[in-house]
This record gives sequence, C-alpha cells and structure tokens, in this order.
Amino acid sequence: MATILRWLGHGTWHISTGKYNLVVDPFVDENPLSPVRADELECQFILITHGHYDHMADAERIACRTGATIISVYEICHWFERKGISAVHSMNIGGSYNFPFGRVKMVPAWHSSMLPDGSCGGQAAGFVLFLPEGNIYIAGDTGLFGDMKLIGDLNLEVAILPIGDNFTMGPEDALLAVKLLRPRRVVPMHTGTWPLIEQDPHQWAERVRKESATEVTVLRPGEMLTLGNR
Ligand code: NI
Ligand code: MN
Repeated sequence: MATILRWLGHGTWHISTGKYNLVVDPFVDENPLSPVRADELECQFILITHGHYDHMADAERIACRTGATIISVYEICHWFERKGISAVHSMNIGGSYNFPFGRVKMVPAWHSSMLPDGSCGGQAAGFVLFLPEGNIYIAGDTGLFGDMKLIGDLNLEVAILPIGDNFTMGPEDALLAVKLLRPRRVVPMHTGTWPLIEQDPHQWAERVRKESATEVTVLRPGEMLTLGNR
C-alpha cells in the first residue's frame, strides 16, 4: 500500500491512503494554480486547519456533494453544522482521534482564524496524520514556534510547511522549523499563489539540503509525493 499526497496549490492537498481519500484545506475553484475543480474532488474526509477563505472556500460544496466528514476545530465544525452539514467531527488543540484512515492529532498553529462571514473560527491548527506509511505533519498557516520541537518528536516522515512569508513563516523561519521538526522529508507550500507570497522554493530547498539532513521535495501544483516505497 502507498499513501499519495497530491498538491493542489496553495494549502490544498488531496491525500489518498488507498482505501480513503482526504482533502486538506479545500481552495481550488478560485485558486489560480489549482489543476482541478471542486466538482472533481472525491473524498470521505475534509480536514480544515482554520477558517480563512483560502483554506475552506470549497469545503461546503465538496461536503454536500460527497457527504464527506469535515474534521476541524470545534468552532468551524459548528459553523458548518449551522449551514446544515451534519457530517462533522470537531476536535481541539492537543486532541487526537482514530479515524478509519488513521489517527489525527490536532496541533497548534500561530495564526488567526475568522470565517468568511466574520464568525469566530476558534484557534488555528495544524494536523499530524499517523498513517501506516509514515506520519505527516501539515502545518497549516503558521509562524515559527518552539514547540515544533515537540511535534518533531512524533517521528515525522513528511512535514508540509508554508514558506510564502507575509501571512505565514517565510523561507528563513521555515528553515528553522525543519531543524526543530527533523522530518525525513519536507515539502513547501503556501507560496506562488499570488505575488505577495512569491518565493523561490528551489533556492529554499538548496538551503535545507545544506543545513539539515532532511530531504526536500519541491512540487508543482498537480504533482504528487508517494510514501510507502521505502
Ligand atoms: Ni490563513
Ligand atoms: Mn492562508
């Protein structure tokens, strides 16, 4: 079995574990780099790190069409419930739960979280997915924080980190994050979508290779990373 992570641009991922499909932070129809449309995405679970538009704009449509369960912080799940979506699983920082595809732990992210209509989105979060092919840390939108060292103790196969700067860590802090997290591989995201968060991921990758033991995979939107062929 293999786990396939496909970057759909920005903070959006489609993760296939073989039996299950997950979508993380669905923002595709208005994402200038997305290789797919929301109507093409099949999944049983939708994970949302925080309430900003560029992380959940297509969640409602995908959830309504597929019946997928939304996994997010309590406030965001409650917001979707008020819209009539009952397949939600709310969590909060520090908690974990065994889903059919594997365990998910909700971890902190230093960021804000307001939903598109101005409702409070609670605390922004990241996720660690414990899958048979390795543990995956999805940082969401965040600044650097020292407790990434503790997340690094979770034996990470892959860390997916924002490097775009301005709204999240930039390349410099993301490099420090790699050193705290000590993952076997790192993949940059949340860059290239708009000029404001334009970075050179290849230049960043060079620095990571020089200064850490972590392998870097730079994806273009639509490209995939496969775990489990070790
Ligand atoms: Ni955000
Ligand atoms: Mn964002």
